[in-house]
Amino acid sequence: MAFELLWVVAFTMLTFGEGMRNGSEVCNSSDLKGLTSFKSGIFVDSSGRLAKWVGLNCCSWEGISCDNTTGRVTEIHLPGFISTDDFFYQSQMNGLLSPSITLLASLEVIDLGGLIGLAGTIPTSIGFRLPKLRKLILYTNNFTGPVPESIGKLSNLEELVLYENQLSGSFPSSLGSLKNLNKVLLYSNRFSGMIPDSITNLTNLVQLDLHSNSLSGHIPQRIGELQVLEELDLSNNLLVGSIPTSLSNLKAISVLYLDTNSLEGPIPFPSSSDQMPSLSFLRLHGNLLTGKIPFMFGNLVSLKRVSLANNKLEGPIPSSFGNLSALSELYLHGNRLSGRIPKSVGLLCQLILLNVSNNLIRGPLPREMSSLRNIQTLDLSFNRFNLSSIPKWIAELPSLTRIYLAGCRIQGRIPQFLKITPSPIQELDLSDNYLTGSIPTWLGSLTQLYFLNLSRNSLASSIPDSITNLHELGVLDLHTNKLTGSISRVFKIGHRFPDGSLTYIDLSDNSFSTGIEQIGADAQTGIRFLNLSNNILQGRIPTSIGRLKSLQSLDMNSNKLGFDLPDNLANLSSLQILKLQKNQFTGKIPSGFLKLTKLKEMDLSDNLLVGEIPVGKPLSDFPVRCYSGNKGLCGKPLTPCKL
Ligand SMILES: *[C@@H]1O[C@H](CO)[C@@H](O)[C@H](O)[C@H]1NC(C)=O
Ligand SMILES: *[C@@H]1O[C@H](CO)[C@@H](O)[C@H](O)[C@H]1NC(C)=O
Ligand SMILES: *[C@@H]1O[C@H](CO)[C@@H](O)[C@H](O)[C@H]1NC(C)=O
Ligand SMILES: *[C@@H]1O[C@H](CO)[C@@H](O)[C@H](O)[C@H]1NC(C)=O
Ligand SMILES: *[C@@H]1O[C@H](CO)[C@@H](O)[C@H](O)[C@H]1NC(C)=O
Ligand SMILES: *[C@@H]1O[C@H](CO)[C@@H](O)[C@H](O)[C@H]1NC(C)=O
Ligand SMILES: *[C@@H]1O[C@H](CO)[C@@H](O)[C@H](O)[C@H]1NC(C)=O
Ligand SMILES: *[C@@H]1O[C@H](CO)[C@@H](O)[C@H](O)[C@H]1NC(C)=O
Ligand SMILES: *[C@@H]1O[C@H](CO)[C@@H](O)[C@H](O)[C@H]1NC(C)=O
Ligand SMILES: *[C@@H]1O[C@H](CO)[C@@H](O)[C@H](O)[C@H]1NC(C)=O
Ligand SMILES: *[C@@H]1O[C@H](CO)[C@@H](O)[C@H](O)[C@H]1NC(C)=O
Repeated sequence: MAFELLWVVAFTMLTFGEGMRNGSEVCNSSDLKGLTSFKSGIFVDSSGRLAKWVGLNCCSWEGISCDNTTGRVTEIHLPGFISTDDFFYQSQMNGLLSPSITLLASLEVIDLGGLIGLAGTIPTSIGFRLPKLRKLILYTNNFTGPVPESIGKLSNLEELVLYENQLSGSFPSSLGSLKNLNKVLLYSNRFSGMIPDSITNLTNLVQLDLHSNSLSGHIPQRIGELQVLEELDLSNNLLVGSIPTSLSNLKAISVLYLDTNSLEGPIPFPSSSDQMPSLSFLRLHGNLLTGKIPFMFGNLVSLKRVSLANNKLEGPIPSSFGNLSALSELYLHGNRLSGRIPKSVGLLCQLILLNVSNNLIRGPLPREMSSLRNIQTLDLSFNRFNLSSIPKWIAELPSLTRIYLAGCRIQGRIPQFLKITPSPIQELDLSDNYLTGSIPTWLGSLTQLYFLNLSRNSLASSIPDSITNLHELGVLDLHTNKLTGSISRVFKIGHRFPDGSLTYIDLSDNSFSTGIEQIGADAQTGIRFLNLSNNILQGRIPTSIGRLKSLQSLDMNSNKLGFDLPDNLANLSSLQILKLQKNQFTGKIPSGFLKLTKLKEMDLSDNLLVGEIPVGKPLSDFPVRCYSGNKGLCGKPLTPCKL
């Protein structure tokens, strides 16, 4: 910027351009008028740049560049993000873009990107008045309305960068005539309608990003004609039909995201070797794709991240996957894949994440997987592995920290070899297996543990004291086991944060009997989800429960809890779900419950409650069954109380 200013000064001293002949420094009056109108449309400019636009020589204004010889303005360059060697700064402009900007007839570049609050529409005359425009950059603002069809007349346009606005209307089909376009970024708007076939005329296109709009219809069949295309992102739209076969002709493609649409049919590429040699990032997840993963998939040797998850793919994982030596993340979960994991998977020495959960893959696991030296996350849950026991080599994988083996038909005790792993375990999911025995005391030595899910097993013990050492624990799910004794240790887990680290606790469907008094008494007060239902807990809900300010869901149904409901329950202002049915609570419903304005679900049935239900929302809106089976409740929604 400073350089340009210097240059303008030097230039006015040395040359004798139109309108600056004698240093009077008056720029072309149309330009001046256009820029003055632009400035007056803006009522906030946190950067202070516009405030310095004084005088009549608009060519010397910050962010404005002019042509050397004609003296006409060629560039408006006022991006929201300002950075120099010394500092960077996110500025904001609020106001309306003046349509008079099209008076600047020689404009080649408009860069008003990232100003956040710039609103209005893209002037309809833009295509007629700004024939020299090469770059139109208005991303991350508040623009509304359509992209005018006249844009198709801007035959010099190279970059159209309008993402993160509120633009709507159908996709501008006139774009298809702009042969010079190389970058089109229109994502995160509200465009609807089809992607016009004419887009395949844009033979210079390098980047086409239309994700997160409401585009419908098919992907143009001839999209493969975009021979220099490197990035194509059509994800998160409403696209249907099959993936065009021509995609495999995209020689330069490196990023291909078609996920989160309703695409169906098979994955059509690669159909021969040497196709898409640069493809590194492929996302096809969240569609309705069917058929097998192409046998030659392993020819896409540049792949680094692949997600084919949540489709209806079937058949085996092709052994050619072993050729993807750059692969670091592979998501295949939520399909109907069968067969065995191919031995060649062991060749993926860069692999850090493998998720094949929720498929129909059979065991045994190939021993070759033990050479996955870089794997950190392994999710094999819910397949047909029938592991019987956890293979010991899993615990020896040098980088593994997240282990998901739910629904793998694992039997016996939790194996002790998980105690000492080369990398400390952070996430462990052994839920929905046939585990027996106790929750081991050594679990307390997994001090990096953040996520522990041992639910739906047959574990029979109390929660060991050592659990209080799990300072990082955020999610604890032990539901549906045969656990007994006290729940108090869970609420005593030491912590690093003021509210503790635990946000999710599910101890439901066990035989816990004591420890209720510890809730909220100690460290852990940041809990959002607490489920203690279907136990044999006794005693009263402690007043300290009111300290769980973040609690959104509290389920204590089907226990043996009694006494009055504490007024402090009304302090749980985030509460959305409250289930206390099937206990022995007595007394009245605290009137403070009327403060629980976020409550969407509540059940107090089958207790010993009496008296009038506090009058007002949300309590009177719940159905009768939420109050039924008590000793003497009355008032709306039940029958009126007798006076
Ligand atoms: C600049 O030149 C114009 C005509 O060429 C003249 O009218 C004007 O007075 C000059 N201004 C200055 C500041 O010399
Ligand atoms: C502005 O520039 C255009 C073309 O360069 C010219 O036709 C017009 O007369 C100029 N206006 C003024 C007031 O100099
Ligand atoms: C400015 O004009 C000079 C001489 O006509 C030319 O050499 C130079 O490239 C021009 N600079 C720009 C940035 O157009
Ligand atoms: C964007 O415009 C809407 C009204 O259309 C307004 O409510 C919102 O505050 C604007 N956002 C910004 C960041 O200016
Ligand atoms: C652009 O594409 C359409 C439809 O694919 C075609 O009919 C038309 O001739 C093409 N136009 C140009 C200028 O290439
Ligand atoms: C890897 O590719 C080569 C040829 O490119 C092929 O011969 C080999 O079978 C492939 N490996 C696997 C595991 O498919
Ligand atoms: C693997 O995919 C499943 C969906 O099938 C998902 O719930 C799970 O969180 C994923 N696992 C990991 C470790 O991200
Ligand atoms: C699972 O493996 C066990 C032995 O390890 C065997 O008894 C059982 O029949 C197998 N179940 C299935 C469904 O294959
Ligand atoms: C724990 O595992 C069970 C069964 O696999 C699952 O339903 C539950 O959602 C998991 N809990 C958490 C917190 O992810
Ligand atoms: C609490 O756990 C029980 C049994 O596991 C389950 O049925 C219930 O839906 C859970 N409550 C909430 C609010 O998720
Ligand atoms: C919690 O509720 C009790 C009883 O309603 C009240 O006295 C107390 O001030 C509340 N505490 C906080 C921190 O809001």
